[in-house]
Amino acid sequence: MLNNKPKHLPRKGWYDGWIYSTFIDQESNPIRAQVLEFLEPGSSVLDVGCATGNFAIMLAKKGFRVTGIDISHDMISVARKRQARLGIENLEFIHSNAAYLNEHSADRFQYALFSFSIHEIGYEERLELIETIKPLTKHIIFCDYQTPPPRSILGFLVWGIEFLAGSEHFLNFKDFVDRGGLNSLIKTCGLKILNEKTNRSGIYRIMVCD
Ligand SMILES: C[S@@+](CC[C@H](N)C(=O)[O-])C[C@H]1O[C@@H](n2cnc3c(N)ncnc32)[C@H](O)[C@@H]1O
Repeated sequence: MLNNKPKHLPRKGWYDGWIYSTFIDQESNPIRAQVLEFLEPGSSVLDVGCATGNFAIMLAKKGFRVTGIDISHDMISVARKRQARLGIENLEFIHSNAAYLNEHSADRFQYALFSFSIHEIGYEERLELIETIKPLTKHIIFCDYQTPPPRSILGFLVWGIEFLAGSEHFLNFKDFVDRGGLNSLIKTCGLKILNEKTNRSGIYRIMVCD
């Protein structure tokens, strides 16, 4: 199990828990299927900001060894219930701020996955989080919005969804867009892009980094 210092808890979105799992979670399944194409079968994955565990469970069912971590108690609680119901063993959920994972932890992962978790975090914490995760993993995979969102109905929908997520979430998302999104973040963090893909509608971007 990863050691971590339990700092800066809890954080809570109004949609955390059953609202997220009922109305939002499934919408990301098509892009998750595309992320899967970049993962070596059977490898270990740290799912940073795993929310209600949908993606982590999908990976574990396919034979990956998965650790999901989330700062929100309500999200992790749904994730753990789902895991117990399905009886999946190659999966662990941690309730913690991932920015305070212990860099001296014995656990190392082949992949750390940031699936729609980095855009909702403030700039300083975004950088701190990635610096903490870097020594724990061989590769980092980001799956997030293309920035700026395209001038299409879907692009405007993205702005709408982020607005509805709450003022702090929205301001952080806007900052993420204004600073140049994933490309700029990856450059600032000194990561090297190994592979990348934008989905057909031009809304989502997957970037595999070293
Ligand atoms: C929009 S959700 C995305 C969830 C999921 N990865 C997906 O693809 O559907 C972002 C999640 O990141 C979590 N999160 C944000 N900052 C975090 C942090 N510092 N440590 C752990 N989890 C965090 C939030 O609680 C939230 O559940």
